[in-house]
Amino acid sequence: MSRIVLATSSAELRDRVHQATAGAFLPLPLGPLPADPAQFFAQLEGAPLPDVVLLDAREDPAHAVSLAARLQQHCPAASVVLLGDQGPETALAALRAGVRDIVPPGAGAAEIRLALELAGQSAQARAAALAEPTSATAGAAGRVISVVSPKGGVGKTTVATNMAVELARRSPGSTVLVDLDIQFGDVASALDLEPEYFLVDTVQGPAKQDSMVLKTVLTQHPTGLHVIAAPDSPADADMVTSDDVAHLLRVLASEFRHVVVDTAPGLSEHTLAVLDETSDLVLVTSMDVPGVRGMRKEIDTLRRLDLLPPAHHVVLNFASPKSLLTVADVEFTIGTGVDLQLPRSKAAPDSIDQGVPLLQSGVRDPLTRALRALVDRVVGTEDSGQPAPDSYPTRRSRSQPRRAASRWRRTKVA
Ligand SMILES: Nc1ncnc2c1ncn2[C@@H]1O[C@H](COP(=O)(O)OP(=O)(O)OP(=O)(O)O)[C@@H](O)[C@H]1O
Ligand SMILES: [Mg+2]
Repeated sequence: MSRIVLATSSAELRDRVHQATAGAFLPLPLGPLPADPAQFFAQLEGAPLPDVVLLDAREDPAHAVSLAARLQQHCPAASVVLLGDQGPETALAALRAGVRDIVPPGAGAAEIRLALELAGQSAQARAAALAEPTSATAGAAGRVISVVSPKGGVGKTTVATNMAVELARRSPGSTVLVDLDIQFGDVASALDLEPEYFLVDTVQGPAKQDSMVLKTVLTQHPTGLHVIAAPDSPADADMVTSDDVAHLLRVLASEFRHVVVDTAPGLSEHTLAVLDETSDLVLVTSMDVPGVRGMRKEIDTLRRLDLLPPAHHVVLNFASPKSLLTVADVEFTIGTGVDLQLPRSKAAPDSIDQGVPLLQSGVRDPLTRALRALVDRVVGTEDSGQPAPDSYPTRRSRSQPRRAASRWRRTKVA
C-alpha cells in the first residue's frame, strides 16, 4: 500500500481524504503548505518518506507548484498530486514541475481514491526503476580510497581531486569524491564548484534515510564526478559526527564503485572513522624531515591500531633530486618502501587556483603522468581501455567493527 501524505489547511478536505483512503494516510498539521522541503520533512516527524504527496493548491497555486517541483527533486520516486482549480497556465507549470495529477477542488472520495491509487502505482514503478543499478554502479561493493597525511599542505587535495576526476573520466558516474577535511576542506574550490548542498545535508534528514535522496544532494562536476563538499562554515563541522561519516561512506560504497575521500591533516576522530571504512589508503608525505618523521609516526600508529589496510600506498610528493633527503633516506626513516613519487611541478598550484585538476585539463607535465600512474596503481588499469577485474580487494568485514576511535584514545592514554 502506498504511503500517502496530505498537506492542507482544510479539515473538510482532510475528512474527504480520510474517506478516500479509509484512513490510511498521514495528514501534516492543518495550516498553509510548508514553505520548503525542509519544513515538509520536519513536519513528517521522522515518518518514512511518502510515495504520494497530495498538496492542497487552492490557497496558493504558484507556491504549490514550486513546492511540488522541489519535493520531486528530493524524493525522485514520489508522485505529487495537486488539488485545486488550475487554469491552463498553472496546469502547464505543474506538468513541467513533474506533478503526477491535478484533482478538481470538488472531487469526491472516489475520484480522489482513483487519483491516489494511480499516483501510488507510478511511484512504485519509478522507485523500482531508480533502484536498478546503473551500469556505472553495477555490482558495487565500492572501494573507499582515502588520502591521508600527518601534516598539512603536502598535496592530499591535489591527489584526491586528480584521482577522482580520472576515475570519473574512465567510468562516468562511478565515482564520488567526499571532502572530509570537515573544517577547512577546499575540494569545491579545487574543482571550481559552487555547491548548493554540503556534507551536512548528506548526513541529516531524508538524505540520511534514503540513498536515492542522498544522490539528489550530490554536486555534479563536468567530468561526471559526484562531489560532497565540506561544510561552508567551519562551525558547521560540529553537526557531523564520526558515526555520520562512517554511515555515509558505507552508503556511498554501496552505490558507487569508487568513493574517494580527502581528509584533514592528522588523525582526528573523523579521519579515524574514515580509516575504519577504507579499503585503499594513500599516505602522502612531503620530502622533508618534519613531513617524513610525521609519516613514520602515522604509519606506526595505524599499524598499532590495525588500521593500515593491505592495499596502502606511500606517496612522496614534491619529490626532487635537489632535495637534501634521498628516497633511500625517506624509506629508512618511515620503515617501508615509497610506492610512488610525485615530482614538484609549476602546473600544480595554478591548477588548484584555477579549479581545474591536471588530469582534467590533461596538461602535459611529469606530475600529470605520475598522478595517472597513481590511479593505475590503486585501481589497476580498469576502464582505461581494459576490462574491469571480476573482483576487487576484499573490504573489511562489517561483522567486526573496529572502533578505531576508542582504541586510539586508549593508545594515547597508554
Ligand atoms: N607536486 C607538486 N608540485 C608543486 N606544487 C604542489 C604539488 N603538490 C601540491 N602542490 C601545491 O601545494 C599546495 C598544497 O597542496 P594541497 O592543497 O593539495 O595540500 P593538502 O595536503 O590538501 O593541504 P591541507 O592539509 O591544507 O588540506 C597547493 O598549492 C598545491 O597546488
Ligand atoms: Mg587539502
